[in-house]
Amino acid sequence: MYVVRLTKLDVSGVDVKIPYTLHAGNALFVLGTMFTYLKPETYTVLREQFKSQMTEYRVAPSMGGLDTCYNFTGLTRMSMPSITLWFEGWAYIVPGMEQMMYFGRRGDIFSVGCLAFAAASDLPPGITAVIGTLLQERTEVVYDVHGGKMGFSHKQCW
Ligand SMILES: *[C@@H]1O[C@H](CO)[C@@H](O)[C@H](O)[C@H]1NC(C)=O
Repeated sequence: MYVVRLTKLDVSGVDVKIPYTLHAGNALFVLGTMFTYLKPETYTVLREQFKSQMTEYRVAPSMGGLDTCYNFTGLTRMSMPSITLWFEGWAYIVPGMEQMMYFGRRGDIFSVGCLAFAAASDLPPGITAVIGTLLQERTEVVYDVHGGKMGFSHKQCW
């Protein structure tokens, strides 16, 4: 389990305005959970910003605890806003479409897909985000254990 400082989130370059006291905090990288959990206030702002850029798509019912879902069935192309997670030291992760969204049919983006982020009201004290395995996929994580640092290398080969 690794803890790094999350400094901000943005959706296609638009900062997610998080109330100051919640703005930055520790993010936990975990292997035991698939989705990414944020404080409810932070998640709400992220979701509203994401939804405002997804108005052209058909909304679908919630799926598996994820409440921001779209039905992409029948489409032949789509484009989505990107979400960037920024960490102290200007390190960042931009999850790919299949890391940011959870698709009902894995590997098929033209199915029902939900934003793979959710609100968690029971995060441990001082923790603002729990980064799950889906979001970590396709990002090579470098651990400098002695230096107490983590780095991300972005694979552009999907
Ligand atoms: C998605 O859209 C397709 C085609 O319109 C429809 O058949 C299907 O029932 C929808 N699925 C959900 C979960 O809304």
